[in-house]
Amino acid sequence: MELPKVGLSNKELKKLFYELDQEDQNWESGKLFSYVFSSKKKYRNFIEKILLQFYHKSGLDFTVFPSLLKIEKEIIDFAIQHLQGNQECCGNFTSGGTESILLAVKSARDYSLIRNKTNSPEIILPITAHPAFHKAVQYFGLKKRLIPVDKNLQVNLKELENSINQNTILIVGSAPSYTYGVIDPIPEMAKIAKKYNLLFHVDACMGGFLLPFLKKFNISIPDFDFSVDGVTSISMDFHKYAYAPKGSSVVLYKNKEIRKFQIFSCADWVGYTMINPTIQSTKSGGPIAATYCTLLLIGEKGYLNLIKKKLNALKEIQNYIKKHKDLELIAENTFPLLAFTSHTVNIFHIVDEMNSKGWYIQPVLSYGELKEAIHLTITYSNTKNVDIFLKDLEASIETAKSLPSNLFYNKIKPYIEKLKNHQISTKDFLQKIIESVNLRIEDLSRRSASINEVLNLLPVNLREELLTEYVNIILK
Ligand SMILES: Cc1ncc(COP(=O)(O)O)c(C=O)c1O
Repeated sequence: MELPKVGLSNKELKKLFYELDQEDQNWESGKLFSYVFSSKKKYRNFIEKILLQFYHKSGLDFTVFPSLLKIEKEIIDFAIQHLQGNQECCGNFTSGGTESILLAVKSARDYSLIRNKTNSPEIILPITAHPAFHKAVQYFGLKKRLIPVDKNLQVNLKELENSINQNTILIVGSAPSYTYGVIDPIPEMAKIAKKYNLLFHVDACMGGFLLPFLKKFNISIPDFDFSVDGVTSISMDFHKYAYAPKGSSVVLYKNKEIRKFQIFSCADWVGYTMINPTIQSTKSGGPIAATYCTLLLIGEKGYLNLIKKKLNALKEIQNYIKKHKDLELIAENTFPLLAFTSHTVNIFHIVDEMNSKGWYIQPVLSYGELKEAIHLTITYSNTKNVDIFLKDLEASIETAKSLPSNLFYNKIKPYIEKLKNHQISTKDFLQKIIESVNLRIEDLSRRSASINEVLNLLPVNLREELLTEYVNIILK
């Protein structure tokens, strides 16, 4: 773009942003089973006002904006109580699950380094752990040990214990994991962590807020929080099932001894003394104020109401999948995340067909012995659409059955071998894919079945290289 000599009028800008808006999936339609957690409009309208009222305040300096510190303490206090922490627990508000996880891993690294535990720290991750931990490994120069899951999709405890060595600093468990919605055996993992004197992080970004409420529906929930001796930190997001606007999570610690390593102070420059408890420095006061407002506005009764609708939708969709001759439910859940696969239909075609009907459902690539799948995150806005969703899903399955599989794969097969043998660069390979599918590169995400079929056949390192190359091309 070029900067206009004279700023555009409101009318022109309205038109411009209306047109941009039309390019996206309509997140208010309830047809997205991911990415947007939206509650009732009457809540949103009020919360957005508070978001704007506090948007321009900066969380960089709480001596200038003491209200933001006050609000943070209230939110952390709530989070600690919600997750059964004690007086020693502490934590901070962050911009999202990834920031909370990065901070927890960084704190664990530095806490261990200062104790001369090791110069080559390793963390133990179940294969179901969120990519944010892999990002932390990459950013902070750590090593990862990946642990397989059992048939029930929980981490294999024996393999976990066997992988501990003198460099291990941290074990990670999920409550629940994103893809399958399954909760790891947190008490058993905590026992192992204690036995070897290790830190243990529970990623409750998805489940931390919602799980304690499920008990009120007589659903039995395994212990996953600070009530479990051995859990040393927890991440919990408010911008997921608490329905706060985006940019809202907390990282909590068992005590301040560990949290201390998260805080960054700098007096080694010519300016004011810089103190950042979290990764961001300048940060808007909007998300934190809006989160506080969301919790107070919706309240326990409101959340129970929203949850009831989600549980009903989950049951209905799970029942449909269980009865369907072409589908297979991967895990039966009481948490509103689910994944299913098929042994008779190409699920990547189902994804594309649903996409063409205005839905967004998420493809999951195969991993080791785990088959490719479709993931659904069920949120309040989806609950009004279950009937039509199932009807469209049925039609999509029928269409998918009639579509050819692996046509594209046959065209690209010779290049896959070359790529695996490093006889062709990832960039050239990507070019071959683009030529073969006859699509503009920008459209690949909309009709993605062919690409997913290819990715599905590649080893993890090549998948990563290819995706990096792709994004490097499409971004300016
Ligand atoms: C279990 C889990 N952990 C961490 C994250 C990362 O959260 P965010 O996308 O807010 O960074 C997610 C996101 O879906 C998640 O499901």
